[in-house]
Amino acid sequence: MLKLAIIGCGKVSERMHLPAFASMPQVAIVALADISSKPLGAMGDLYGVSALYKDYKDMLKNEDIDAVCVNTPNYLHAKMTVDCCKAGKHVLVEKPCATSMPEVRRMKSAADDAGVSVMVEQVHRFMPFNEKAHEVIHSGFMGKVLGFRARVASAGPALWSPQGKWFFKKSQAFGGALADIGVHIVDTIRWVTGEEIARVQALTAKYGKRGDVEDNGLMTAETTRGVLGTIEASWTQSPGFFGYQVNCEKGVLEVVMGSGLKAYMAEPKGEIDFTLPAESRHGGAFGYFVDCVMNGRTPFVDIEEGGRSLAVIIAAYRSAATGRAVKVGA
Ligand SMILES: NC(=O)c1ccc[n+]([C@@H]2O[C@H](COP(=O)([O-])OP(=O)(O)OC[C@H]3O[C@@H](n4cnc5c(N)ncnc54)[C@H](O)[C@@H]3O)[C@@H](O)[C@H]2O)c1
Repeated sequence: MLKLAIIGCGKVSERMHLPAFASMPQVAIVALADISSKPLGAMGDLYGVSALYKDYKDMLKNEDIDAVCVNTPNYLHAKMTVDCCKAGKHVLVEKPCATSMPEVRRMKSAADDAGVSVMVEQVHRFMPFNEKAHEVIHSGFMGKVLGFRARVASAGPALWSPQGKWFFKKSQAFGGALADIGVHIVDTIRWVTGEEIARVQALTAKYGKRGDVEDNGLMTAETTRGVLGTIEASWTQSPGFFGYQVNCEKGVLEVVMGSGLKAYMAEPKGEIDFTLPAESRHGGAFGYFVDCVMNGRTPFVDIEEGGRSLAVIIAAYRSAATGRAVKVGA
């Protein structure tokens, strides 16, 4: 039995983590923490958890816990992850995994020193259409990757989490649409294509009046192999969109969330509609995390991997601020 605790009982815990973990017979949710009594009490009641903490550090001292989910505003991810590692707990930390590269390095050191795993909740890697796209590209069926165009768009976090005012504050979120959902599409493109983004040139815009972060961002990207692509993130689009095209030697692979996965082949000319499994091959991100912890495996989306996707977003912000192309990680 894996004894799990969650820090942050807001929307992502309510909608994703708690229902998923509560449905797993091999997991016991043993404690919850939140600075706010309302979501803490509500989630405790709903899932029958009586060990409730206003201060997560008390929870780490008091409870017998194997693993912790860090589901708090972005600026708290690094500190809380480091504290959990120091207490000997495995961690599933929400995306974006941190707000700076020094934070990522501190998280990595803390995990290594304690001998625990830190997995980043880049949940799109566990969606069947992305898993299949990864498999198709990596099988060599489409030939080499020559380019990509990708877009992720939503109506913004006000609908997702009405209480989550922090999403609009640079001091707590560190960025807007790019940091929040752009990091999903950057991570997906990196993983599916196997291309490492080396340089970006970006622009951001703010149409809405809330807060001090961008609600739209786009970047042109160049990979270490010289492949070019574009990546866009928007908080001002309804209905939303998640999709990308990967241009390859033998045709174009296209993913549109909700419509599945298609290949448009050049030679011989034709279309392929890939059949997708109903479930992730890993049992989803949560099932995979539990499996890694229980079987002593290192998650393939660890803090270094999550950190590489974050580094692209950080470079995009630097580029937007300076008007110049910026090397990722420089
Ligand atoms: N992987 C995904 O697809 C996905 C989806 C949505 C959100 N997220 C991420 O999940 C995280 C949380 O987002 P959310 O939508 O749940 O936000 P939210 O605002 O709904 O919830 C955040 C919770 O954290 C609590 N909190 C704040 N400071 C705290 C502290 N010091 N100690 C304990 N609790 C504290 C708040 O009281 C609140 O209940 C963010 O990093 C967000 O980017 C990821």
